[in-house]
Amino acid sequence: MFIRSAKYFPQLEAHGICGMIKDWFEVDMPCQTQLRSSRHHQRLVKYVRPLQESDVEKIVTWLKNGKWKTLPHDGSGIIHCGKNTTNLPLTITISPAGVYLDKKRCHQLGYGGSKNVTKALFINQQGIAEKCAAYRFRDRHAYDMSKHAQNILKKHGLINSFSGNDFHTYQSKSGKQRFKSYVARADDDLRTYISKKDNFTTADSIELIEQLKPIAHQLQQWHSKGVAHRDIKLENIFIQDNNFQIGDIEGIIDSPENGGICTLDYLMPIRFLQENASLLELQYADVFALGITFAKILRKESFGEYLHTVRFVNRTKEEFKKSIRERIIQERGLLSESKLDTLVISEFKSTMVKAHADLPPCERRSSIAEQLSELIIDMIHPVSTISMSAVMARLNQIFPKTDNT
Ligand SMILES: Nc1ncnc2c1ncn2[C@@H]1O[C@H](COP(=O)(O)OP(=O)(O)O)[C@@H](O)[C@H]1O
Ligand SMILES: [Mg+2]
Repeated sequence: MFIRSAKYFPQLEAHGICGMIKDWFEVDMPCQTQLRSSRHHQRLVKYVRPLQESDVEKIVTWLKNGKWKTLPHDGSGIIHCGKNTTNLPLTITISPAGVYLDKKRCHQLGYGGSKNVTKALFINQQGIAEKCAAYRFRDRHAYDMSKHAQNILKKHGLINSFSGNDFHTYQSKSGKQRFKSYVARADDDLRTYISKKDNFTTADSIELIEQLKPIAHQLQQWHSKGVAHRDIKLENIFIQDNNFQIGDIEGIIDSPENGGICTLDYLMPIRFLQENASLLELQYADVFALGITFAKILRKESFGEYLHTVRFVNRTKEEFKKSIRERIIQERGLLSESKLDTLVISEFKSTMVKAHADLPPCERRSSIAEQLSELIIDMIHPVSTISMSAVMARLNQIFPKTDNT
């Protein structure tokens, strides 16, 4: 096993490791002083010192001297070495595949509801380093979901760059259990990517949607294998070397499950009324979410009102349901609970369908923007049953020349 032999360590410098550590972790960049609340509600000042030039050499020396070989590893052969073990300002994780270096504070790449994402460096068995990302999961549930997602992809022979490697847990200094994995690095998520662009014109947005054809293709493939993503949105589409890929795969499932995890802006409103959605219904919800994603990119004014209604209804769902219920009782008198439920659903559907019908029809179908709008309008229908295959066929008509992979 590599852990015991680790022949490559003596040659670490030969591969320019020091330079990569300095570059990726930005040696000597000032780190913010962080304010943290203690258990007694006092505000404590925690100073995070930057990584220094001398630390980089110490890291390499520590790796080369091999003391870590005697440290305990978990069932998968992973040794987690925190600051207390190494006396170094970086976490070092040694796995059978290689070594990871990462630093929690001041090196964030992003965060969401289930994890904190930070910069990491992976050194493989040949001593060659590459930048990657560390996933620190919020809790065991998020960690287990990520592992589960990876198994689903494997089971169906699907490939995704952002399924994790070297999942492991460890105890923090305060005795809390932490949950972690490492993953390929993305350059940006789609939301950040767009926000960095100045003067984003309609032509740019059309070009971007064209570049997203592989995303639609990937989703179509997943759906054809009976898999649903459940959280398609701008923030969960990642860019890596100019290619777009679906990220944040924790929510994927291949069997119907109660409750969705989709973000409210992108949630097909009918979903919150359905206790037991079928897998097919969850896939329609993916199409809806991709439609909203496209709508947000195309930024047509006419979508604005409808996107607002979707957001409003999803955010105020309980009050919204209650007001429909009260109106029905007022108009029709006392009804059985099941009859009332059926009426609430049908009234709800017609309210949403009416909001959708207010989206202006496209006049000049000849232009690409109009053809795209028309497709988006179909995708974001509140009770849409358009499949990803149908979406792909339409995208292929609109953009016949681009490759889908
Ligand atoms: N591999 C990665 N490389 C770079 N940034 C990432 C990577 N994975 C996630 N991020 C960033 O972190 C954010 C949150 O990650 P995500 O996987 O979406 O987790 P969550 O389930 O918490 O939303 C993403 O929107 C993205 O900006
Ligand atoms: Mg996310």
